Amino acid sequence: MQARSLRWTGVCALAVVVAVAAFGPERVAVADGYGKVMEERSKLMKGMGGAMRTLKGFVEGRNSAEEASAAADVIAAAAPKIPDVFPPNTGMGVDPKSETKDVVWEKWDDFTAAAALLGDKAAALKTALASGDAGAAGAAFGDLGKNGCGGCHRQFREKRN
Ligand code: HEC
Repeated sequence: MQARSLRWTGVCALAVVVAVAAFGPERVAVADGYGKVMEERSKLMKGMGGAMRTLKGFVEGRNSAEEASAAADVIAAAAPKIPDVFPPNTGMGVDPKSETKDVVWEKWDDFTAAAALLGDKAAALKTALASGDAGAAGAAFGDLGKNGCGGCHRQFREKRN
Protein backbone atom coordinates (compact mmCIF):
# COMPACT_ATOMS: atom_id res chain seq x y z
CA MET A 1 0.00 0.00 0.00
CA GLN A 2 2.72 2.39 1.05
CA ALA A 3 5.00 1.24 -1.75
CA ARG A 4 2.20 1.76 -4.25
CA SER A 5 1.42 5.27 -3.14
CA LEU A 6 5.11 6.11 -3.24
CA ARG A 7 5.33 4.84 -6.78
CA TRP A 8 2.27 6.88 -7.69
CA THR A 9 3.85 9.96 -6.18
CA GLY A 10 6.89 9.22 -8.24
CA VAL A 11 4.84 9.01 -11.43
CA CYS A 12 3.12 12.29 -10.62
CA ALA A 13 6.43 13.96 -9.92
CA LEU A 14 7.79 12.66 -13.19
CA ALA A 15 4.73 13.94 -15.04
CA VAL A 16 5.27 17.38 -13.54
CA VAL A 17 8.92 17.33 -14.53
CA VAL A 18 8.01 16.35 -18.08
CA ALA A 19 5.31 19.04 -18.28
CA VAL A 20 7.65 21.70 -16.97
CA ALA A 21 10.37 20.59 -19.35
CA ALA A 22 7.93 20.65 -22.26
CA PHE A 23 6.18 23.95 -21.60
CA GLY A 24 7.43 25.84 -18.56
CA PRO A 25 11.06 26.92 -18.65
CA GLU A 26 11.22 26.74 -22.41
CA ARG A 27 8.55 29.36 -22.85
CA VAL A 28 10.23 31.55 -20.26
CA ALA A 29 13.60 31.05 -21.98
CA VAL A 30 12.21 32.15 -25.35
CA ALA A 31 10.63 35.25 -23.82
CA ASP A 32 13.82 36.14 -21.92
CA GLY A 33 16.11 35.46 -24.84
CA TYR A 34 13.92 37.42 -27.20
CA GLY A 35 14.56 40.79 -25.60
CA LYS A 36 18.25 39.99 -25.39
CA VAL A 37 18.54 39.01 -29.03
CA MET A 38 16.72 42.15 -30.16
CA GLU A 39 19.07 44.21 -28.00
CA GLU A 40 22.12 42.48 -29.46
CA ARG A 41 20.79 42.93 -32.99
CA SER A 42 20.22 46.62 -32.41
CA LYS A 43 23.65 47.04 -30.82
CA LEU A 44 25.39 45.26 -33.70
CA MET A 45 23.59 47.32 -36.36
CA LYS A 46 24.01 50.63 -34.52
CA GLY A 47 27.71 49.86 -34.01
CA MET A 48 28.04 49.53 -37.77
CA GLY A 49 26.04 52.73 -38.22
CA GLY A 50 28.56 54.55 -36.01
CA ALA A 51 31.44 53.04 -38.01
CA MET A 52 29.83 54.30 -41.22
CA ARG A 53 29.68 57.83 -39.79
CA THR A 54 33.39 57.65 -38.92
CA LEU A 55 34.16 56.45 -42.45
CA LYS A 56 32.07 59.21 -43.99
CA GLY A 57 34.03 61.67 -41.85
CA PHE A 58 37.24 60.25 -43.30
CA VAL A 59 36.00 60.57 -46.89
CA GLU A 60 35.02 64.16 -46.13
CA GLY A 61 38.43 64.91 -44.63
CA ARG A 62 37.42 65.14 -40.95
CA ASN A 63 38.78 61.81 -39.66
CA SER A 64 42.18 60.15 -39.93
CA ALA A 65 43.03 57.03 -41.93
CA GLU A 66 43.65 55.23 -38.63
CA GLU A 67 40.16 56.06 -37.42
CA ALA A 68 38.75 54.93 -40.75
CA SER A 69 40.67 51.67 -40.61
CA ALA A 70 39.41 50.96 -37.08
CA ALA A 71 35.86 51.64 -38.29
CA ALA A 72 36.33 49.20 -41.19
CA ASP A 73 37.51 46.64 -38.61
CA VAL A 74 34.30 47.14 -36.62
CA ILE A 75 32.25 46.30 -39.72
CA ALA A 76 34.49 43.37 -40.69
CA ALA A 77 34.08 41.92 -37.18
CA ALA A 78 30.33 42.53 -37.06
CA ALA A 79 29.43 41.04 -40.46
CA PRO A 80 29.91 37.35 -39.53
CA LYS A 81 27.87 37.90 -36.35
CA ILE A 82 24.78 39.12 -38.20
CA PRO A 83 23.14 35.69 -38.74
CA ASP A 84 23.46 34.92 -35.00
CA VAL A 85 21.23 37.85 -34.04
CA PHE A 86 18.44 36.77 -36.41
CA PRO A 87 17.05 33.53 -34.93
CA PRO A 88 13.74 32.38 -36.45
CA ASN A 89 10.50 34.12 -35.44
CA THR A 90 12.10 37.43 -34.54
CA GLY A 91 10.75 39.52 -37.40
CA MET A 92 7.85 41.88 -37.99
CA GLY A 93 5.42 38.96 -38.21
CA VAL A 94 5.75 38.40 -34.45
CA ASP A 95 6.98 41.80 -33.30
CA PRO A 96 5.43 45.01 -34.63
CA LYS A 97 8.55 46.90 -33.49
CA SER A 98 10.91 44.84 -35.64
CA GLU A 99 11.88 46.08 -39.09
CA THR A 100 12.93 42.61 -40.21
CA LYS A 101 10.90 41.11 -43.04
CA ASP A 102 9.90 37.52 -42.37
CA VAL A 103 11.25 36.55 -45.79
CA VAL A 104 14.67 36.45 -44.05
CA TRP A 105 13.94 32.91 -42.87
CA GLU A 106 12.51 31.76 -46.20
CA LYS A 107 15.62 33.02 -47.98
CA TRP A 108 18.10 32.28 -45.23
CA ASP A 109 20.92 31.43 -47.69
CA ASP A 110 20.47 34.79 -49.42
CA PHE A 111 20.47 36.51 -46.04
CA THR A 112 23.71 34.86 -44.87
CA ALA A 113 25.24 35.55 -48.30
CA ALA A 114 24.38 39.25 -47.86
CA ALA A 115 26.15 39.20 -44.48
CA ALA A 116 29.18 37.49 -46.04
CA LEU A 117 29.20 40.04 -48.87
CA LEU A 118 29.38 42.82 -46.30
CA GLY A 119 32.44 41.09 -44.78
CA ASP A 120 34.08 41.03 -48.23
CA LYS A 121 33.31 44.72 -48.79
CA ALA A 122 34.80 45.61 -45.40
CA ALA A 123 37.98 43.68 -46.27
CA ALA A 124 38.17 45.48 -49.64
CA LEU A 125 37.78 48.82 -47.86
CA LYS A 126 40.60 47.92 -45.47
CA THR A 127 42.86 47.16 -48.44
CA ALA A 128 41.91 50.42 -50.16
CA LEU A 129 42.55 52.40 -46.96
CA ALA A 130 45.95 50.73 -46.50
CA SER A 131 46.93 51.66 -50.07
CA GLY A 132 46.70 55.34 -49.19
CA ASP A 133 44.75 55.98 -52.39
CA ALA A 134 41.95 58.33 -51.32
CA GLY A 135 39.96 57.77 -54.50
CA ALA A 136 40.04 53.98 -54.07
CA ALA A 137 39.07 54.31 -50.41
CA GLY A 138 36.15 56.59 -51.27
CA ALA A 139 34.94 54.18 -53.95
CA ALA A 140 35.24 51.19 -51.60
CA PHE A 141 33.29 53.09 -48.92
CA GLY A 142 30.52 53.91 -51.41
CA ASP A 143 30.37 50.32 -52.58
CA LEU A 144 30.21 49.02 -49.02
CA GLY A 145 27.32 51.32 -48.11
CA LYS A 146 25.34 50.75 -51.28
CA ASN A 147 25.88 47.04 -51.78
CA GLY A 148 27.07 45.80 -48.38
CA CYS A 149 24.54 47.46 -46.04
CA GLY A 150 22.06 48.50 -48.71
CA GLY A 151 22.14 45.14 -50.51
CA CYS A 152 20.71 43.46 -47.43
CA HIS A 153 18.45 46.28 -46.24
CA ARG A 154 16.74 46.56 -49.64
CA GLN A 155 15.75 42.90 -49.52
CA PHE A 156 15.24 42.22 -45.86
CA ARG A 157 14.48 45.40 -43.93
CA GLU A 158 11.34 47.50 -43.97
CA LYS A 159 11.96 50.81 -42.29
CA ARG A 160 9.11 51.98 -40.09
CA ASN A 161 9.65 55.67 -40.68
C1 HEC B 1 22.53 40.61 -43.90
C2 HEC B 1 21.63 41.71 -43.71
C3 HEC B 1 22.09 43.05 -43.22
C4 HEC B 1 23.29 43.69 -43.45
C5 HEC B 1 24.47 43.23 -44.29
C6 HEC B 1 23.21 44.95 -42.74
N1 HEC B 1 22.00 45.07 -42.09
FE1 HEC B 1 21.43 46.63 -40.92
N2 HEC B 1 19.63 45.70 -40.58
C7 HEC B 1 19.22 44.53 -41.15
C8 HEC B 1 17.87 44.24 -40.74
C9 HEC B 1 17.04 43.04 -41.16
C10 HEC B 1 17.47 45.28 -39.88
C11 HEC B 1 16.14 45.44 -39.11
C12 HEC B 1 16.31 44.88 -37.71
C13 HEC B 1 15.03 44.86 -36.88
O1 HEC B 1 14.45 45.95 -36.64
O2 HEC B 1 14.58 43.75 -36.50
C14 HEC B 1 18.61 46.20 -39.81
C15 HEC B 1 18.64 47.35 -39.04
C16 HEC B 1 19.68 48.28 -39.02
C17 HEC B 1 19.70 49.48 -38.22
C18 HEC B 1 18.63 49.93 -37.22
C19 HEC B 1 18.95 49.26 -35.89
C20 HEC B 1 18.04 49.72 -34.76
O3 HEC B 1 17.89 48.96 -33.78
O4 HEC B 1 17.50 50.83 -34.82
C21 HEC B 1 20.88 50.14 -38.52
C22 HEC B 1 21.39 51.44 -37.91
C23 HEC B 1 21.58 49.34 -39.49
N3 HEC B 1 20.83 48.20 -39.77
C24 HEC B 1 22.81 49.66 -40.03
C25 HEC B 1 23.52 48.85 -40.91
C26 HEC B 1 24.78 49.24 -41.51
C27 HEC B 1 25.49 50.58 -41.31
C28 HEC B 1 25.19 48.17 -42.27
C29 HEC B 1 26.42 48.05 -43.10
C30 HEC B 1 27.69 48.46 -42.53
C31 HEC B 1 24.17 47.13 -42.15
N4 HEC B 1 23.18 47.59 -41.32
C32 HEC B 1 24.23 45.90 -42.75
C33 HEC B 1 19.97 43.71 -41.97
C34 HEC B 1 21.28 43.94 -42.38
